[in-house]
Amino acid sequence: MKTCRTGVEELYCPNGKQIEKTPVVAYGDTHAYTQCDIRSGLNCIEYRRKKKVRIIKRLKIIKTKKTINNKKYQLIIKQKFKTMEAITASARQVAPDKPGQAINGPGVLPPPMKPMIIDATPKERTALSNVANILIKAFGHYEHPDYISSLHLNAFQLLPERIAGILSRFGADFSGNQYGALVFRGLTDVDQDALGATPPSWKETDYSKLIKYGFICSLLHGAIPSKPVQYYAQRKGGGLLHAVIPDEKMSFTQTGSGSRTDLFVHTEDAFLFNQADYLSFLFLRNEEQVPSTLYSIRSHGDTNEVMEALFKPIYKCPKDANYDKEENAGDDVTTSILYGNRKRPFIRFDAAEQIYNEKAGQSTEAMSNLVRFWEEARQLIYNEFIPESGDLIFVNNHLCAHGRNSFIAGYRNENGQMVKCERRLMLRMMSKTSLINISSVTHTDDPYFIMEEHYGKLFQKDPSQQ
Ligand SMILES: [Fe+2]
Repeated sequence: MKTCRTGVEELYCPNGKQIEKTPVVAYGDTHAYTQCDIRSGLNCIEYRRKKKVRIIKRLKIIKTKKTINNKKYQLIIKQKFKTMEAITASARQVAPDKPGQAINGPGVLPPPMKPMIIDATPKERTALSNVANILIKAFGHYEHPDYISSLHLNAFQLLPERIAGILSRFGADFSGNQYGALVFRGLTDVDQDALGATPPSWKETDYSKLIKYGFICSLLHGAIPSKPVQYYAQRKGGGLLHAVIPDEKMSFTQTGSGSRTDLFVHTEDAFLFNQADYLSFLFLRNEEQVPSTLYSIRSHGDTNEVMEALFKPIYKCPKDANYDKEENAGDDVTTSILYGNRKRPFIRFDAAEQIYNEKAGQSTEAMSNLVRFWEEARQLIYNEFIPESGDLIFVNNHLCAHGRNSFIAGYRNENGQMVKCERRLMLRMMSKTSLINISSVTHTDDPYFIMEEHYGKLFQKDPSQQ
């Protein structure tokens, strides 16, 4: 125990050994006792006064920081600290609601054929809404550097505990039972009036109306934990949240802006080595009642002979239909379709671009293997889920491909009659679990901005890389 009385001049180290007599000289923490007289010429009173001034200065700096100067936010953070143990405990206790959909666990289960569906409770929905409102007050925008750099902390402290627990487990489960997608039904209430009419295309989107949803989506990614990123290959970046809207000018394309043709299942950006790890799709509107399609590599069960052939690095993947044909000529880079663990593989696959695109340029062997695989895979596509406003689909992009059925934008079928309605509006966010692993392809000044154009080749838009 330290004893320091001015005038008496005694100072003891933590072991009780007296290390200093007159004059008393102290410098900070207990570990510094043995060198206090060397490091400072101050006596204890002067030292304490200086320390006090430093603390007051620091407090002043903190107070002036607008981003964390929000009492309600601070209060919630404090309360949440107390429940950290409860969050961890609830994560451990998450139980599958149906056999075969276990997040994890022992025993042999049939291959998962559909995503786990989680119905958000009214309490969770309200809590999430409140949290998003508080974050808007505290940070202003979901892309605020202070918010993004502390995302994981915010996610685990602020998300409803059950949801944080489910996502945390999802981020570490690549087992044979894991489908690779979660559906959160009724995650948030969407104020349709405040949203206004769906714009003609994503280019006219008013993102100021979507800030709250950006906070909600980013928190979910943060709980994996994974970091929201943007790709130059998609809208030249365009921010961490993308509005996906049917565009009449692109209605027959195999893109998010298409509508009139089925969007074949695909893992996002199969033409990149550094494709997203996780995706979220938050549906603000789906009045046309368009089913979402999902396909999981885990639905095949153990790796079979057809899948074995997909480990060969002989498959090409052109860039997607967002690009002009000349740009689409593509490189000669070939990759495998399946990768990672041989028994529990990950998948990179785009049916439209790798099989149906005439310019794909696959070898005879590659095309034959792809067609054989596709015949098996297409039987396993799940398309029973029709998202409602406020539903969110969360996808592991290495396990599960996504797509949707064709539809007529702005019309819904009512008893055989096509009736006008608001056009579909969905928000997509993508994330990577490691910024370090992608640093060779990110913008020099923005580690969240991926500049990869096609299988390792970079867009030359970053002056420092030219
Ligand atoms: Fe997609």
